Amino acid sequence: DRVLRIGLLGCGTVGGGVVTLLSGEVDDITARTGARLEVVRIAVRDLDKASARGLPVSRDVFTTDPSAVVEDPDVDVVVEVMGGLDPAGGLIRRALELGKPVVTANKELVADAGPELYEAARAAGVDFAYEAAVAGAIPIIRPLKESLAGDRVTRVVGILNGTTNYILTKMSEEGADYAEVLADAQRLGYAEADPTADVGGHDAAAKCAILASLAFDTVVHASDVFREGIAAITATDLRVADRLGYVVKLVGIASEVDDRVGARVHPVFLPKEHPLASVRDAFNAVYVEAEAAGQLMFYGRGAGAMPTASAVVGDVIDVARNLLQTARGAAESVHRAKAIRPIEDLQTQYYVL
Ligand code: NDP
Ligand code: HSE
Repeated sequence: DRVLRIGLLGCGTVGGGVVTLLSGEVDDITARTGARLEVVRIAVRDLDKASARGLPVSRDVFTTDPSAVVEDPDVDVVVEVMGGLDPAGGLIRRALELGKPVVTANKELVADAGPELYEAARAAGVDFAYEAAVAGAIPIIRPLKESLAGDRVTRVVGILNGTTNYILTKMSEEGADYAEVLADAQRLGYAEADPTADVGGHDAAAKCAILASLAFDTVVHASDVFREGIAAITATDLRVADRLGYVVKLVGIASEVDDRVGARVHPVFLPKEHPLASVRDAFNAVYVEAEAAGQLMFYGRGAGAMPTASAVVGDVIDVARNLLQTARGAAESVHRAKAIRPIEDLQTQYYVL
């Protein structure tokens, strides 16, 4: 078996999910990748906290020196899930310089330096992938970058922050207290290390900037995005909205009008029949309007350990395949044969979902 060795920068909510997913699905992931993916080094700040997580890795893979992970000649692929601009940005630049592909979930960094990091990766001939940076488990980076490359996107509207959507849902449906429900979102692993990034709209603004850059083929920074969070929304606002036939949602909107790209994040009144109105709890959705395709909607879990890990591990497999120069067909050819259910069996199913 070929082995590709992963160095993990950070092992909190998302990093823990990545380790769990990689260690739980070894055979399938090995088959899909064409190599076994092994986490060989992990950087954290606090070794005791890392051990207390009880992850299925040996204690000696942990270090408090993230540079040691990047510089380790045994590390083939770097996965950055520590968050923040520094030291994450410098570590990613160094990994790319060393010719190591990088996967990140760090929207703050991608919104700040994405194009530069992408160029650095291109110069080094390796991948820089960030599907998990926007809307957790929802595949939205690849659709905008690849599937819709032949179309002209005119507008993207998204519920891009799970924490605030969770808070607004609980406040409006259950009359929950703002502070209590924010504490729940933190406990459930939805919130950022500093939750003001969520409630102030900074996190959604970074994601909106990334989507605007991809949709309109330009560079939009988080500082270009008009931003207003949910802190001023009261239970009364939500009650009045409900009586008038609306729900209140924090949305990101990016559009191109007369060759000018604009992006904004703020709470809106959404008619209850709007497709985004039914997106509850920590779910996210991205509604894309394109000239040829028309309207598309992407929906799923926008935050939390395992949904985000799903997107990170998907990227890891993709960059690993490229690293191995394994053509997709060749990778699929190593899939294990699975039994197919006979038609008679399927005919007995009910036609109600
Ligand atoms: P956590 O705070 O749970 O985890 C961060 C991890 O990084 C911790 O293990 C921490 O160590 C480690 N770390 C941070 N700084 C350093 C440093 N300087 N040196 C060594 N280790 C460091 O964050 P999350 O897992 O929630 O988020 C990680 C990234 O993923 C962020 O960019 C976030 O925006 C993004 N993201 C998060 C999602 C979520 O649902 N939580 C969803 C999508 C993206 P220690 O444990 O010792 O403190
Ligand atoms: N804090 C973020 C959220 C995590 O609540 O959406 C996912 O990016």
